[in-house]
Amino acid sequence: MRIAVLTESDPAEPRVAAVPETIKKFKGLGADVTIQSGAGLKAGVPDADYEAAGATIAASAAEAAGDADLVLKVRRPNEDELKLLKTGATVVAIMDPYGNETALKAMADAGISAFSMELMPRITRAQVMDVLSSQANLAGYRAVIDGAAEYGRAMPMMMTAAGTVPAARVFVMGVGVAGLQAIATARRMGAVVTATDVRPATKEQVESLGAKFVAVEDDEFKQAETSGGYAKEMSADYQKKQAELVATHIAKQDIVITTALIPGRPAPKLVSEAMVASMKPGSVLIDLAVERGGNVAGAKAGEIVDTENGVKIVGHVNVAGRLAATASSLYARNLFAFVETLIDKESKALAVKWDDELVKATNLTRDGQVVHPSFQSTAA
Ligand code: NAI
Repeated sequence: MRIAVLTESDPAEPRVAAVPETIKKFKGLGADVTIQSGAGLKAGVPDADYEAAGATIAASAAEAAGDADLVLKVRRPNEDELKLLKTGATVVAIMDPYGNETALKAMADAGISAFSMELMPRITRAQVMDVLSSQANLAGYRAVIDGAAEYGRAMPMMMTAAGTVPAARVFVMGVGVAGLQAIATARRMGAVVTATDVRPATKEQVESLGAKFVAVEDDEFKQAETSGGYAKEMSADYQKKQAELVATHIAKQDIVITTALIPGRPAPKLVSEAMVASMKPGSVLIDLAVERGGNVAGAKAGEIVDTENGVKIVGHVNVAGRLAATASSLYARNLFAFVETLIDKESKALAVKWDDELVKATNLTRDGQVVHPSFQSTAA
């Protein structure tokens, strides 16, 4: 079995799909691994480290992918890359399938079996393969680091000979995986932290991290979680009450980090223009939802916007990629854990169990068709 790891073709993607540790594990399963030269450079892994782990280095993507049975990537292969793959090859990546029907059709037409890591079910067995969690956790951490870097004051309270410096006030909106890590990081840096979410279960989690919970806790709030543990879209009435509470709170904050998402919907608008205008000069907003439409009015993907009242709205994209080395090693481990289930230990060959629930949940294309139930309209 031949595995290829390609250099990401998107210049905005510094992560890589394998690290020396996972190369050794793939070798242990009897696979030959080829790495496209330079694939790990932006994540701090030189070719020599891959070679030392037992990989072969290929000069080009074509050379690496040409006879590969399995191709590992961070992002979905583009049209040029699809041309390099052999028919029937298996490709595993973060495929970003929603709204990208044409790209799914192209993968089906190329005859590959495409698997999308972010569709992995959030069940105990698959926790080790959960890329949404591994990457969101890092994004939450990095959001605080980025916020602190843009903020012109110190985070912790400091009592110095020249006087006392107050602690920064950090407000985290959306307490999923990213939000929880942002709270923990901001607390470690000495900030006074508050947080909000529409899921009632988060209140206890926020408090257990030493932060204060801020939300309108009415009857609607008490029912605001789906059986899958995700947020529901809230009524206009709730949103209004919550916005009023948040408006008075935000005016007093130094750093606001927003992470709120609703699966399959645009990100909820949580911070209005008026709220941004109410903040003190020098305050910073970090919008981690900017690639999904944004939680903050005025946030722009890939930009830091300076408002008229001296507030910065930070809209970095691919925030986990801003910690490319750590993000790559966690992603590579997530990938290995999944790919291992696709390999037959005896024959040392790919042997996908098509009725396995992890396979069914993540498989997008097979035998020239888009096969995933969520994207059936594209199969016709
Ligand atoms: P996400 O990325 O979908 O959303 C981030 C947060 O935004 C969520 O906490 C959500 O409730 C919140 N949100 C949505 N609308 C909001 C609004 N209007 N105002 C304030 N907050 C709002 O969430 P993520 O990080 O993927 O986690 C979702 C759930 O999945 C959580 O319950 C988490 O504990 C659970 N989970 C379970 C795992 C497992 O069992 N293996 C692994 C990871 C997460």
